[in-house]
Amino acid sequence: MFRSDLLKDKRVLITGGGTGLGHSMASRFLSLGADVVIASRREEVLKDACAAWEQDFPGQSHWQQLDIRDPEMVTAVLDRVWQERPLDILVNNAAGNFLAQSETLSHRAFDAVLGIVLHGSTYMTLDVGKRWIAEGRGGCVLSILTAYAWTGSAYVVPSAVGKAGVLALTRSLAVEWGSKGIRLNAIAPGPFPTEGAWERLIPNERLEKAWLDKIPLGRVGRHEELADLASFMVSDQAGYMNGELVHLDGGEWLGGAGQFNIMRDLSPEEWAAMTARGRGK
Ligand code: HXC
Ligand code: NAP
Repeated sequence: MFRSDLLKDKRVLITGGGTGLGHSMASRFLSLGADVVIASRREEVLKDACAAWEQDFPGQSHWQQLDIRDPEMVTAVLDRVWQERPLDILVNNAAGNFLAQSETLSHRAFDAVLGIVLHGSTYMTLDVGKRWIAEGRGGCVLSILTAYAWTGSAYVVPSAVGKAGVLALTRSLAVEWGSKGIRLNAIAPGPFPTEGAWERLIPNERLEKAWLDKIPLGRVGRHEELADLASFMVSDQAGYMNGELVHLDGGEWLGGAGQFNIMRDLSPEEWAAMTARGRGK
């Protein structure tokens, strides 16, 4: 789909790049020539991911242990990254989430998710952006959100609040920093199977099926589909895209939105009877 040197000369940092969708984006960026830094809390996960990439992409992948909830650690890690070579692209992918009835949640439960999603993504974006502005260089931030950043969703309220905040951050800074050559965009993925999301958010097969039934295309997303969209959005080929939220969900949010979408379940006989009745009138 792309030239194999699409991201050559680009240096990317992906938070949470050792697992799930972050790992898939990192693999794709590496295959397109990027230099990739993955950063999260678990050193073993990061080390193993980079060791596995080393054979195909020697010297291109790097890792930094980082808890994005800690702004001082964010600055210290970015100082180290910058000393090696400044970043061109930041991907805010790290997140925390769980299913819960909101009235059962303590303030610490809210903080646990908001600390990662809202504060962590904000600390990363501000610290990287300040460096780009001080150096007079452009840059690009891509945040991985979800459609419920703007629709809201029951039972994942801390995550919805946090993702909504990151969407506001994206749209606000797209305007404020656009004149400085910094683009900020976001992707709203539908369901893409990952261990992290599935073990927390899909408790049983009945709910998995109910979720699939909501998606007009009738299937979950493939990681390579998300990785390709992300590659395009961070590349110079998307240089005029700024402040955008792109949905990649097989039509999922629209499927739940239109009032008459429930008619998708009608049988041919029911359609025939309904049409006859309507024409009769
Ligand atoms: C209710 C919970 C809870 C749960 C934790 N808490 N899990 N409350 N239901 N399932 C409460 C605890 O009781 C505690 O409050 C407070 O939250 C902090 O708990 P800790 O265990 O100390 O939190 P911490 O170690 O900081 O872990 C954060 C985490 C964890 C978010 C809870 O799951 C995590 O680290 N997740 C990272 C990876 C992840 O979540 N990946 C999925 C992303 S998928 P009290 O009051 O008891 O002290 C995703 C998909 C989006 O975002 C869209 C899909 C379509
Ligand atoms: P995942 O594998 O659990 O990814 C979450 C990552 O965040 C982990 O690598 C984790 O690494 C990192 N992380 C968590 N807390 C951190 C912290 N404090 N500091 C640094 N890193 C931290 O789940 P995923 O499904 O791939 O999710 C990736 C992104 O896609 C998330 O933003 C999620 O909301 C979004 N998304 C996913 C889906 C889906 O269907 N999978 C749908 C919509 C949106 P450590 O534990 O090592 O820190």
